Amino acid sequence: MGGQHGGGSGSGQGGSQQDDGQSGAGHGGGGSEGQDSGHSDTKGPARGNIPTCSNSQPAMVFSMLAALDVQPGAKVLEVGTGTGWNAALLSERVGSETVTTIEFDPENAATARARLHAAGYNPVAVVGDGSQGWPAGAPYDRVLITASLQEIPADIVRQTRPGGIIVSPYATEYGGEAVVRLTVEGDGSASGPFVSSSAFMRLRQQRAYRTHVKTYLGGKPWPADGRRTTTSLSPEDVADWLPMFAVGLQTQGMFPYPEKLDGGRYTLWLRDTRVTSWASIDFVPGAEEFEVYQSGPRELWGEAGRPGPRGRVP
Ligand SMILES: C[S@@+](CC[C@H](N)C(=O)[O-])C[C@H]1O[C@@H](n2cnc3c(N)ncnc32)[C@H](O)[C@@H]1O
Repeated sequence: MGGQHGGGSGSGQGGSQQDDGQSGAGHGGGGSEGQDSGHSDTKGPARGNIPTCSNSQPAMVFSMLAALDVQPGAKVLEVGTGTGWNAALLSERVGSETVTTIEFDPENAATARARLHAAGYNPVAVVGDGSQGWPAGAPYDRVLITASLQEIPADIVRQTRPGGIIVSPYATEYGGEAVVRLTVEGDGSASGPFVSSSAFMRLRQQRAYRTHVKTYLGGKPWPADGRRTTTSLSPEDVADWLPMFAVGLQTQGMFPYPEKLDGGRYTLWLRDTRVTSWASIDFVPGAEEFEVYQSGPRELWGEAGRPGPRGRVP
C-alpha cells in the first residue's frame, strides 16, 4: 500500500446512528480534520463548518423524556434550549414555573424564548454555560442535557437532589455516544446505565481540536518512522458507532480519522491528542490481514484492538 496517505477525504466508515438528526457524526467525534471545531460564538453572518444547534429527532426526544421519568411539579433543568421545543414539552408536562432551560448561544436563547412565550409557556430561560448548571434554581429533581458531554460536570451533580435523575448523551473522545441515565446518591455520587445509542452535538466547551495528520508525520512522507506490522482485526470491526463507543470507553486521548482511497479501500488513521503517536491501518476489501504502521510511544492500534466488550483481539 502507500502513496495516497496523509490528507484525503474522510470515508463513510463509521456509520453512526443518527438519533439527533445529524449526519456525519461518526469517526472523529466533535472535532474536525486540521482545523478549529467551527463553533459559532461570533455574531453575525460568519459561518463555521460544524452545526451548532438542531432540533433532535422526536423519537430521541421522547425516549430521553421517558428516561427522565419526569412528573408534574418536578423542578427540572434543561441544558441546551436550542429551538425551545423540548422546553415546551417539559413545561407542558410539569408546569412552566418549575422548568429552567439554559442556552449558551444568546441568539438561540432569544429565539427560543420568543417561541416559548408565543406558545404560552414561561419557563426560566437563561443564557449561560450549562456545564455549570444554574445554581439559582437548584436543587433540581431532574436534569436533561441535550448536547453531548465527555465529562459529567460536578456542578450539575451537586445541583441535583439525592434521588434525582440526570439524563445526558455521553460521548467519548474517540467517538461513539450513548444516553446515560444517572441517579444522584446521598453521598454526592451519581451512577447509572447507558439506555440508548445517540449522536448529539457536543457541548461547546467540550469540543475538540484535531491536528492534521501531516503534523504527526513531521513533514515526512508516510510511513515516516512508522513501525510496520500486520493485523487480522479488520478496521471494519471497530468502524460502527457502538464499537467506536466501546473503544472510546477503553482508551484515552486518541481519535480516528478514515481516509478514503479508491476501490473501497481506506486508511484508518489513529492519532493521540498530544500529537506524540499515530497509527495507520489499511483496509482492503476481502483481505484477511491488514498492514499497520505505528509511530510514537503509544501503540494506538494495539490499544484500540485490545480485548474488551467487543470480544475481539488484534
Ligand atoms: C441539539 S441542540 C438542543 C436541542 C433543544 N433541546 C431543542 O429542543 O431544540 C444543542 C444545544 O445546546 C447548546 N449548547 C451547547 N453548549 C452549551 C452549553 N455549554 N450550555 C448551554 N447550551 C449549550 C447549543 O447552542 C444548542 O442550541
